[in-house]
Formats: sequence, C-alpha cells, structure tokens
Amino acid sequence: MADSVRIDAPAKLNLRLRVLGRESSGFHALETVFCAVSLADEVTVRRSEGELRLVVDGATDLGPPEHNLVRRAALRYFEGIGEPARGRITLLKRIPVAGGLGGGSSDAAATLTALDALHGGRAGSESLLRWAAELGSDVPFFLCGGALALGWSRGERLLVLPPLPPRPVLIANPGVEMPTPKAFRALADARGGGWTAWPCALDAGALRSWEGVAEIAGNDFEELAGRSVPRIAQGLAEMRVRGAIVAQLAGSGSSVFGVFTSPELRDAAEAPLRHRGFTCWRAETLATPPLPRSIAG
Ligand code: C5P
Repeated sequence: MADSVRIDAPAKLNLRLRVLGRESSGFHALETVFCAVSLADEVTVRRSEGELRLVVDGATDLGPPEHNLVRRAALRYFEGIGEPARGRITLLKRIPVAGGLGGGSSDAAATLTALDALHGGRAGSESLLRWAAELGSDVPFFLCGGALALGWSRGERLLVLPPLPPRPVLIANPGVEMPTPKAFRALADARGGGWTAWPCALDAGALRSWEGVAEIAGNDFEELAGRSVPRIAQGLAEMRVRGAIVAQLAGSGSSVFGVFTSPELRDAAEAPLRHRGFTCWRAETLATPPLPRSIAG
C-alpha cells in the first residue's frame, strides 16, 4: 500500500441555483446544477505514526483549526473506520475562501477520498457519501464520481449527468467574503419566509449542451449580492458584454464566473475584470473528476 496519496480538490460552479424554501431543520431546499472546474486546491495525505497533523500552504486565514473541514473530514474518517486519527495532511490552497466556489467542501471530499485510497478502500463509497453529507451540503457532489450533476434537497441528493464538452471559464473574485449562512438569511429575509418556488418542468435535454444550460441557468442569490456589492453586478455585466454564454454569481457569492466559447474570448475578459478590482483565474470546466494518485515519499 502507498505511503502518500495526493488528489486535486476542484472548485465547483452552480450553473443553476434555485432556493425553493426553508425546511424545518433551518436548511434550505435547493435545485442546483453543479459543475466541477480545473481551479483546484491540492490535498496530500501521508501515513505516519504521529497524531493527526494538518499543514496549510498558500492560504489566507482559514479560521480556527477545529472548524477546518479537512481536519473534520479526517477525524470523521478515522472515527468511521474505528482507528485513532493519525497521519499528516498537507492542504495547498488556491481556491478563494468563502467565495461561493465550494473550496472547503471540495477539500473535505478530497480528504475522505485520499484517506480511503491510503487505507485500501476500507470505508467504501456509500460510507464516504454519508460522512460527506454530515460535513456539509456541497461535499457529496465532490464524491459523486461525475463532474456535472443535478442536486436537490440541501444539494446532497444527486443525479450524475453525462459531462458537457469542456469550456473555458473566467473566475473573478471581488475580494469580499460572503459567508453562506449570512447569504441564506439575507435571501430568506428578502422573501419574507415561506416556500416561494413556482412549479417548473426542467428539460433533461437542456443539460446536454451549453446552449441548453444557458437557457436554464440562473442564481437566486445574484440580485441581492449585486445590490450589496455593486462591483458584482458590474463584473457580471462586463462578462456578458465580452461574450460569456453563462455569466453568474458563484454559489451564494462572492465570486462571479463566465463560461466562454473560446480561450481567446475568456482571456480578453480578464483585463477589464482586473481593472474593476477583481482577482481572476483562468480555468476550464471538467469532464471527469480528479482521481487520487499514489506518490513516493
Ligand atoms: O451545509 P453547509 O455546512 O455548507 O451549510 C452552511 C450553512 O449554510 C448552513 O448552516 C445553513 O445556514 C446554510 N445552508 C442552508 N441551506 C442549504 C445549505 C446551506 O440554509 N441547503
């Protein structure tokens, strides 16, 4: 068995994000389309006899260690397999924090996957999915085995979809953190509570092409985010003018993204976004999720 396993932890975009209403648990029922992209953190787990240790590289402030999702995922894994938590985990952070791109959730899923690869698949995919859902609503997507999926309930129930052809993506972060609970609260307040969704019949065929996706795209958080941070609305308008086929808020914010038909169009949109104060990343949508790989040393 390998002594170290490394895996990329990709960011996600919600190509569609509808918030249907508030459940009695306090969570919100969603209808969403997740898509993984090439902008990724990297998680490496190493076998060692010492107590579990997490080293974070390249990070901004990730908050208190006990809240860190990588640490919580590792503790959940060892509890699940009934062994003391041991080893060394290195997290290389590239995805902006609290930016709506699912970075923390992806890191947690990558930790579960890498640890299970290191332990010869002892837990298995069903347990991993269950632990993932305990860790956060977005975590199961990163374990579902696909790069595109329809998600509902809190986002933890998934229909894995055939991949779309990869497209260039520009991701732009305005430098404002938008914590998810706050965004859900603001949306619920703005709506005055209750269930607000109209009946709707989604065409599965729409999810087979980017033109179809553009038809069903939308994000319920976008209007409020654009009102509270006008730069977000301006950035989205800029992406649309520059030819994005889908330009949208990422998750509950604060990042925005544009999907383009060519790398040239994407690259041409970058300078105007930077000029408006966004930090930008060039990426691509993924057709397959990353796999864990054994590494020497
Ligand atoms: O599931 P996760 O830990 O990512 O959620 C963070 C917070 O976001 C929750 O505590 C809740 O306030 C809000 N949330 C929600 N409904 C969802 C997902 C998240 O209200 N479906």
